[in-house]
Amino acid sequence: MSTRPTLPADRRPITIPGLFEMKRSGRPIVMVTAYDYPSARAAEAADVDMVLVGDSGAMTVLGYPSTVEVSTDEMLMLTKATRRGVQHALLVADLPFGSYELSDEQAIATAIRFVKEAGADAVKLERGDPSSISRARAIVGAGVPVVGHVGLTPQSATSLGGYRAQGRTAESALRIASGAIGLQEAGCFSIVFEAVPSALTVELMPQMTVPIIGIGAGPATDGQVLVFHDLLGIREGIGAKFVRRYADLQDAMADGVAQYAQEVREKVFPAAEHGYGIDEAELARFRALRNGHVTAELTRSGT
Ligand code: KIV
Repeated sequence: MSTRPTLPADRRPITIPGLFEMKRSGRPIVMVTAYDYPSARAAEAADVDMVLVGDSGAMTVLGYPSTVEVSTDEMLMLTKATRRGVQHALLVADLPFGSYELSDEQAIATAIRFVKEAGADAVKLERGDPSSISRARAIVGAGVPVVGHVGLTPQSATSLGGYRAQGRTAESALRIASGAIGLQEAGCFSIVFEAVPSALTVELMPQMTVPIIGIGAGPATDGQVLVFHDLLGIREGIGAKFVRRYADLQDAMADGVAQYAQEVREKVFPAAEHGYGIDEAELARFRALRNGHVTAELTRSGT
């Protein structure tokens, strides 16, 4: 049975004050990643609240081995395509690695490109260290809403010891706490907690006045985010512990293409119903015209 919601015609776009209202009222915020028009349309049809053009798209749609390779231009292209499919959800774009670390000026310039050129409503940056907090403050000061991201921050996975849960020692938990508070004080309107112990989230939530979106951070956050390709099973392998698969589309896609290939090879496809018709009279006229044409050609060449 479909769980797709019936959407009211007068559905209003999600706003930042609307997200704060959801936090206040305890209505969970739903965020999902999208990277192109079809994934954006699926997210909209499901009535999600926030769509993130994550730099996870580097791996899920562009085939890079990690998120650090993706360029600003590539992320802009993914964001533009997603924007065309999103009308109601709040659209957040990830600032890719290397596009905001050099200076506050670089961070502002990149963030503005995502808003002006790609139509993003907000941008997201990773880490809660002093330099990322400074970048967040600068971008907010320039008028672009910012989402922070602490815990497992894939752009710095190498220094974090790989794609693994963070905050499992007191020191690491303290770093996450001070990063989250710092980003909140810098003006971030929301923060993603990724792969941190559920009990740490419970400890931190009372100090968090902005909506907190979790991924592998337990149920205590104000909302949840999952990667589109993870939740729909559009990837090989098992994926992270915090993912729940709601479909197996990678297998469904491979099966569909394999069936098509088999039917082409067995000459089962295309069938009669896949072709176009032509009136018998037009076909007869075509034959006559072609015969006349061939006769004229032969006469011209003297054969
Ligand atoms: O890039 C991404 O998809 C993300 C989410 C996992 C939060 O940052």
